[in-house]
Amino acid sequence: MDFQDIIAARRSIRAYKPDAVPESAMAKMKQAIQLAPTGNNGQPFKAVFVRNASLRRQIAEKACHQAFIAGAPIIAVMFCKEDHEFDAAIVTDHLVLAATAEGLGSCWVGWFERDAVKALVASPEGMSPCILVPIGYAAEAPAPRPRKSLETLIEVVD
Ligand SMILES: Cc1cc2nc3c(=O)[nH]c(=O)nc-3n(C[C@H](O)[C@H](O)[C@H](O)COP(=O)(O)O)c2cc1C
Repeated sequence: MDFQDIIAARRSIRAYKPDAVPESAMAKMKQAIQLAPTGNNGQPFKAVFVRNASLRRQIAEKACHQAFIAGAPIIAVMFCKEDHEFDAAIVTDHLVLAATAEGLGSCWVGWFERDAVKALVASPEGMSPCILVPIGYAAEAPAPRPRKSLETLIEVVD
C-alpha cells in the first residue's frame, strides 16, 4: 500500500477476530517502533505486547470496561518516562500505521486507569503506561469518521 493509502485506510477498530497476528507482522511493527524519532534520540519508552488472554481481560477492566480491548489478540501497552508523551505518541503512531500496512486493525485507547494498569503489567524502570493499543484483524469495517475542513485545521503563511 502507498503511504497515503495507509493513512486513509486506518480506522479505530473496536471489534476483532481472534486470529493470531503473524510473526512477520509483529516484526514489521517492532521495526516501526524502533525507527520512530524521539527527542534527542532518547527513546524514553517501552512497548509491551500483551498476548496473555487473562491479562488482556484484566487490562480491559481497568480501561473503563471497554471490553472490545480484550477481544484483540494483542494489547500493546505503551510506557514512557514522565513528560515524554510526545515521544510515546509518535512511537504509537508508527505502530498503528505499521499495523494498518499489515492489514491489521488497531485503536488508540487513552481512557484507562494508569496506576491500575501499571500494577498489572510489569513496568519498565521509571516509566508509566500512557496509551493502550489493541491490535488484531478487524471484525468490522467502520466508515471514516468526519474531519474538520482543511481550512479550519491548517493555515499557510507565505
Ligand atoms: C489519544 C487518543 C485516545 C483515545 N482513546 C480512546 C479510548 O479510550 N477508547 C476508544 O474507543 N477510542 C479512543 N480513541 C480513538 C478516537 O476516538 C478516534 O481516533 C477518533 O474518534 C477518530 O476516529 P478514527 O480513529 O476511526 O479516525 C483515542 C484516540 C486517541 C488519539
